[in-house]
Amino acid sequence: MKTIQSTSYSIHFNETCYEKLNTYLKSTNFSKIFLLVDTNTHIHCLPRFLSNIDVNMSLEIIEMEAGEIHKTLDTCTQIWHSLSDLDGDRQSLIINLGGGVVTDLGGFVASTFKRGVRFVNVPTTLLSMVDASVGGKTGVDLGVIKNQIGVINFSDMVLIDPLFLETLPEEEMRSGFAEMLKHGLIKDADYWNRLCSLKELNISDLGNLIHESVTLKNEVVKRDPTEQGERKQLNFGHTLGHAIESYRLENETLQTLLHGEAIAVGMVMEGYLSAKTCGLSEEALTEIKNTFKAIYGSVDFTENDKSSIIELLKYDKKNSHGQIKYALLESIGSCVVDIIVDDQLIDEAFMYYAS
Ligand code: GLY
Repeated sequence: MKTIQSTSYSIHFNETCYEKLNTYLKSTNFSKIFLLVDTNTHIHCLPRFLSNIDVNMSLEIIEMEAGEIHKTLDTCTQIWHSLSDLDGDRQSLIINLGGGVVTDLGGFVASTFKRGVRFVNVPTTLLSMVDASVGGKTGVDLGVIKNQIGVINFSDMVLIDPLFLETLPEEEMRSGFAEMLKHGLIKDADYWNRLCSLKELNISDLGNLIHESVTLKNEVVKRDPTEQGERKQLNFGHTLGHAIESYRLENETLQTLLHGEAIAVGMVMEGYLSAKTCGLSEEALTEIKNTFKAIYGSVDFTENDKSSIIELLKYDKKNSHGQIKYALLESIGSCVVDIIVDDQLIDEAFMYYAS
């Protein structure tokens, strides 16, 4: 599958990715190679990764706990200590083998350790293959508020091996699929239609679709790497979605939602805002709602949930001058940014979602 060229780095696929990595490791004089895994990828992905690596030096493995609740500065501190104790220096390389938490957090650790060491992302979940590992966003959560601390800094390469998905639970596959649907909604109606017509998510179909999603995202990132304008489109569904995800993380009596599950709700609600403010047709809105509800089911919100979620909107990173700014759809395949909506419409969006 064709390599995708990004800003300063390449995204390699399938067997080619290991050839490229091995050549890179041999041609670069790294003092140490650290491999960051979590408790899941240590078991399920590390053996496959190591069996494809050909390098004349030992790798130091650093393990973190799996899960969004560990995407914290505390975890970073532990890893910075490990790097220091294991004699990491500025010529070290960190390879992040994992889902979005590992690639976001590992990228941030690498970007800040000794003012920055090089890193490579090897995403092992669908979500991190099509979104988190690509585009240079690194960072951690602040309490339950998602991705509040971080920097944009690009990895040296991204390696996408869809065979890692063989051990991925079904709900994690669905979670990543939500980001792919988002790529169709904001950029490509034909891609959206093809994704909607899939009967199931099997790895043989997904290979090409992952490549297509990464291509769509990468084109946006190349035009606007630091999110001054167009890149904000990638946040469609995320303003409400992140607030919902954070709310469920902070509320111990409620089950947490996976990122894709939360943005699926966010995309239906922000679809409603799009219809009210940006001209998205009623027909397209109904199609969006039916599609997401068929795949992700429905989440219930009480009045209290709703007001707490609305309160959390103020932390969204697209906000400025105290105003909440949305990325919304004009039609399926076309997105506009920096849209301000009336508070009343947010209430209505919750009602529309529940209807
Ligand atoms: N996940 C959105 C972005 O990378 O911009």
